[in-house]
Amino acid sequence: NAKKTLAGKTVLITAGPTHEQIDPVRFIGNHSSGKMGFAIAEEAAKRGAKVILISGPSAENTNHENIAVYRVKSAKEMFSKVFEFYEHVDIAIASAAVADYAPKDIASEKIKKKEDFLTLELVKNPDILKTMGERKRNQFLVGFALETENEEENAKVKLLKKNLDMIVLNSLRDKGAGFQGTTNKIKILTSDSLLEFSLKSKKEVAKDLLNFVEKQLVK
Ligand code: PMT
Repeated sequence: NAKKTLAGKTVLITAGPTHEQIDPVRFIGNHSSGKMGFAIAEEAAKRGAKVILISGPSAENTNHENIAVYRVKSAKEMFSKVFEFYEHVDIAIASAAVADYAPKDIASEKIKKKEDFLTLELVKNPDILKTMGERKRNQFLVGFALETENEEENAKVKLLKKNLDMIVLNSLRDKGAGFQGTTNKIKILTSDSLLEFSLKSKKEVAKDLLNFVEKQLVK
């Protein structure tokens, strides 16, 4: 039984991938399973927080009474849902793998196979986390960075550009880190610190992450 260290706090968490529709049968997506985000939601709820979990398409589930789950598909839907709640939360954690681009037009019928090449025109999606940074008042804002190269530098840039209080870096170069599996390996960066963790289950990673957040909150 966890101590209720987050009692009285409201935590908003984004999780999972987004699906950007191409036509009635196809989408652009990514490999996120939602496991990392759901693990953070469970751990925050165990610590007494009221959790708002906004998830893209994921097979993960929770029935914790402190967690309200909202299921969305696209980045645009995730954006709208997040800003229904953002103003009134104490902590926001963006673990979703949001598509940066979506098809400009959604074909109303299934696209037929014709030529050898097919061009899809894509337009930039809204950056949910960056907008949270711009609209930040008293929220403690946590981002994730999923990198494949220049990891720490890229994470630092995201921390600053998106006006975050901390960023959780996971690298696809680390075995057992990132998408799908039940484990992850993270580094936590703030403007003036860097903390490296070993490979652990996503449940344990969620604990490390929230322990760090709690420490920052009492600073
Ligand atoms: O779901 P799992 O299978 O358990 O995998 C977990 C995970 C690898 C998806 C997770 O640990 C993770 O790294 N999530 C962030 C993935 C990502 O898209 O990172 P990014 O570096 O592209 O984005 C940086 C940050 O901006 C992220 O917090 C992301 O949620 C946010 N973002 C990005 C684009 C966008 N349009 N809106 C956003 O909010």
